[in-house]
Amino acid sequence: MGRKFLVGGNWKMNGSLELAKTLVNSLNSQKWNTDLLEVVIAPPFPYLSVVRESLRKDVGVSAQNVYFEKSGAFTGETSTEFLKDLKIEWTLTGHSERREYFHESNEIVAKKTAHALASGIKVILCCGEKLEHRESGQTNDIVFAQLKAVADQVKDWTNVVIAYEPVWAIGTGKVATPEQAQDTHADIRKWLAENVSADVAANTRILYGGSVNGKNSASLAGQADIDGFLVGGASLKEAEFAQIIANANV
Ligand code: PGA
Repeated sequence: MGRKFLVGGNWKMNGSLELAKTLVNSLNSQKWNTDLLEVVIAPPFPYLSVVRESLRKDVGVSAQNVYFEKSGAFTGETSTEFLKDLKIEWTLTGHSERREYFHESNEIVAKKTAHALASGIKVILCCGEKLEHRESGQTNDIVFAQLKAVADQVKDWTNVVIAYEPVWAIGTGKVATPEQAQDTHADIRKWLAENVSADVAANTRILYGGSVNGKNSASLAGQADIDGFLVGGASLKEAEFAQIIANANV
């Protein structure tokens, strides 16, 4: 069975109740082949509930972050149990903004990933290198270290989707070329084959993220190892996100 193409929308700390309703209505009225294409959106925490209740059931809803403890004195954190209560079936982990601004180490990201999976929440695990790493030829070292931390704690990868997001391409308008993205995706798949299993390498979806829009998504989607997108800015624009869904390689 092939890998089902996945288009994810990461709203980050953007939007409003009004915009959430607009984006939900837009998705509710679009048509695509749900056997071949999965769509997941990640609104800010306060809107998760209203989005889940108003959004068609075949579109997934994701948190953007989660904590690795079930409950307790952890002011400001969010438990996987809250997500399950609200029928939120996904979370992102390890987004580069969390790694950079909130100092989440590879180990913290791995702990969150393992805890979410053990709790029954599916994970979009983000990884990616900074510009200086790409320019000094360290892309694979950085990305593989991020993945290894997770592989040390996670044995069952069934509910993991990897999002490769080069930091230099996020929110910059500077998208990776289809060849650059394909090369790194293929390297990640090879790493999975050698360090996890051939099965996990063959079945794990690897999304590309970083300045994906309605124009550049078609050529990216055509690459053999690109199994979908994690879209930031363009996921807040209904027509643009609809175009990305329409350009999915299905
Ligand atoms: P962008 O963000 O599409 O705005 O570059 C992608 C992401 O950070 O997930």
